[in-house]
Amino acid sequence: MSQQNITDVLVVGATGSIGQLAVRSALRHGLRPRALVRDLQRAEHLLPGVELVQADLEDTASLLRAVDGADALVLTHGSGGDPRPDARAHIDYGGVLNILRALDGARPRVALMTSIYATRRDVPGATPWKRRSERLLRASGLPYTIVRPGWFDHAGAGQRRLVLEQGGTGDGGIARDQIAETLVQSLLTDTALGKTFELIATEGAQQSDWAKLFGALKSDEPGSVDGVLDPADLPVETEPPTLRTELEAIRSLSGRNG
Ligand SMILES: NC(=O)c1ccc[n+]([C@@H]2O[C@H](COP(=O)([O-])OP(=O)(O)OC[C@H]3O[C@@H](n4cnc5c(N)ncnc54)[C@H](OP(=O)(O)O)[C@@H]3O)[C@@H](O)[C@H]2O)c1
Repeated sequence: MSQQNITDVLVVGATGSIGQLAVRSALRHGLRPRALVRDLQRAEHLLPGVELVQADLEDTASLLRAVDGADALVLTHGSGGDPRPDARAHIDYGGVLNILRALDGARPRVALMTSIYATRRDVPGATPWKRRSERLLRASGLPYTIVRPGWFDHAGAGQRRLVLEQGGTGDGGIARDQIAETLVQSLLTDTALGKTFELIATEGAQQSDWAKLFGALKSDEPGSVDGVLDPADLPVETEPPTLRTELEAIRSLSGRNG
């Protein structure tokens, strides 16, 4: 889908710290954001005047209505407030799985926020769930951009120069508004298509040429479920059978609808 066709944007995680900013960024760009929320009353307070759709990422039936008619999706959900030990599997990964299932043949453009360290296995607390969610999106065959932001609030006020890196080795902070803006800009910029990158900021002013910023990046290999420079240390063949089946099911949807 080319940028001219994007009007209706479903924001998932819209009540979250990045999602709220993504809704505002979409409005600034003249798009029509629709916020996927669990609690309508709370969302009305957080997002006054914004169109809301009530759904839960763990309830595929509720997602059918939420995704209906969306030209693009911005996925910023996260399991941070969820006390379940397997919340990342259910929300970070399962949320993307259920959204893709709910699309039912529709082919919106997708901007997925995951995380810096998504491919790191050598840091305490690292889990592969974000990486697995990225794999689902790549396997879906949908037009996508995957943004792996650095540490929220760890960039100083003067650190506004965006640094887009690939390969999973980068480290650093980034302001929340810049994450949201990058996600929305990726929907509107053709050079962002099919790319995966880490996003941090360094001293200096923010660049304005988004086509150039995204254009300097390598594209993910067509047909690969990993980002272009990702380490090859999580082979699909060694993944649990359920995950392989889910990945194949999403890939076969792409064959049917692509
Ligand atoms: N902190 C960092 O430095 C850092 C760096 C890189 C990446 N990240 C990643 O960024 C994410 C956090 O972003 P954030 O601060 O915007 O998150 P947040 O403020 O915790 O918001 C999470 C959003 O996900 C929604 N959500 C959770 N479960 C849901 C469900 N079952 N159905 C529908 N929506 C659901 C929440 O809805 P409710 O409002 O209804 O709960 C909320 O809108 C995390 O995944 C984290 O790994 C964080």
